[in-house]
Amino acid sequence: MRTVHSIAELREQLSAWQQQGLSVGFAPTMGNLHRGHISLITAAKARCDKVVSSVFVNPLQFGPNEDLEAYPRTLSADQSQLQAAGCDLLFAPPVEEMYPAGQAAVSNVIVPELTLDHCGDSRPGHFDGVTTVVAKLFNLVQPQSAFFGKKDFQQLRVIKQMVVDLCFPIEVVGVETCREDDGLAMSSRNQYLTTDERQSAPQLRQTLLAAKDSLLSGKPVSVVTDEAQKVLMAAGFEPDYFNICDANSLQRQNGVYESAQSWVILAAAKLGKARLLDNIELIATKTQQ
Ligand code: PAJ
Repeated sequence: MRTVHSIAELREQLSAWQQQGLSVGFAPTMGNLHRGHISLITAAKARCDKVVSSVFVNPLQFGPNEDLEAYPRTLSADQSQLQAAGCDLLFAPPVEEMYPAGQAAVSNVIVPELTLDHCGDSRPGHFDGVTTVVAKLFNLVQPQSAFFGKKDFQQLRVIKQMVVDLCFPIEVVGVETCREDDGLAMSSRNQYLTTDERQSAPQLRQTLLAAKDSLLSGKPVSVVTDEAQKVLMAAGFEPDYFNICDANSLQRQNGVYESAQSWVILAAAKLGKARLLDNIELIATKTQQ
């Protein structure tokens, strides 16, 4: 696997592949890779001739009081994992390469409605930073397919919308969430958990599973949400949101679930220093007449 740090080197390699008619799959990351990231590389390899990944801790998507400085940077371990997974090219630019005129000067890509609620509400400006960097990376890499984890369900939905709205000729593929044996979704931020917090952490997934069962058995959204918030607080979490939504519009739902609907429960909760994110889907089993 080759690692490049500049846009010029990246473009040179990509244009050589383009001339050979090879298809390119792309999985952008912020590094500190784990099995979840690697599953994106595996999915890309299965569909594309060449696989490109990026490692870039994007300052634009961090709020002023967030963990930009503390975010783990582990490039050489990341390179080994990507190499072992069969990635062909890694783009790892310094911040000045991506934002040469400074972060405040860069043109922004904004997906309006889908970014208002959930993580968009609790992390203002976060998704503008994500869509801006991903649009830039898409223009640089020009992949045929791009791979994103369903763990970040809202992010995946927002990127899909951006690709439609801005006519990027890219297929966006959602990849299932990789979990630890006890159900905790893998995340670079799990390492902020203390030993005790790590023991409580799977409760987020368990609460989502219980909430899904409750909705399937006909309990109304308001009751299910209240119960989930109470369980999370009792387990030591500080719930950020626990929202039961339509899986496409991400609009919050009321009443009871019907099997013709596709819903998703989006959850974020703080546990000590870590902010954990997870979700569960309720997929339509009957089509509406
Ligand atoms: P990062 O958090 O590093 O995640 C990179 C990709 O890995 C995202 O598509 C994310 O959904 C996926 N991923 C993370 N944990 C996963 C898991 N447990 N199972 C499956 N996939 C998982 O998301 C970002 O970086 C950034 O916002 C980025 C898109 C790179 C833009 O800066």
